Amino acid sequence: MRRQNELKLRSATLEDAHDLWLWRNDPVTRANSFHGQKISLREHTRWLQKSLRSRRRRIYIATRKGERAGTIRFDFLPPKVIQISINLSPEFRGKGYGKLILKKASDLMIKKYPDHFQKALIKKGNQKSEKVFTSAGFLKIHETEEGYSVWIRNSH
Ligand SMILES: CC(C)(COP(=O)(O)OP(=O)(O)OC[C@H]1O[C@@H](n2cnc3c(N)ncnc32)[C@H](O)[C@@H]1OP(=O)(O)O)[C@@H](O)C(=O)NCCC(=O)NCCS
Repeated sequence: MRRQNELKLRSATLEDAHDLWLWRNDPVTRANSFHGQKISLREHTRWLQKSLRSRRRRIYIATRKGERAGTIRFDFLPPKVIQISINLSPEFRGKGYGKLILKKASDLMIKKYPDHFQKALIKKGNQKSEKVFTSAGFLKIHETEEGYSVWIRNSH
């Protein structure tokens, strides 16, 4: 509980661009993602500017004692689906923070959007991620032939 309380969520800003870019281009992140290529800081910053303006996307930064620990992104898809993805700073991985951050952010979205389903796509073999999503109340509902599984959490 103490560790949970140490973590805070805030909305991302352009000042987070550099860290978000480093985490995004990290090799483990790329391996667990559907797009393997790295991108330039310039391209990433353009994407972030657009994302911060978008009404269909929310990006949060999780902090611990003021330090950036990771990010959670929510994409609103019609009709009432929120697709969620998580990426921790490499220094914060492997220490149990994934579960705490995902639960906190997912609970917040359930509170804000109780009539929406939350959905996540997990690449085959990402067992850490499967454990983290299971512990936050997600269920695997489908495995695709393209090598990923579909997970949902609903608030009903
Ligand atoms: C995936 C991610 C969110 C997991 O968060 P984390 O805090 O690093 O997770 P942990 O290392 O604490 O591991 C979570 C669980 O998986 C277990 N685990 C770790 N490595 C594992 C492995 N190779 N196989 C199976 N289980 C493993 C841990 O023991 C832990 O389980 P427990 O709580 O029952 O002990 C984080 O590592 C990350 O951001 N990775 C890069 C980006 C990514 O993969 N995002 C997810 C895309 S869907």
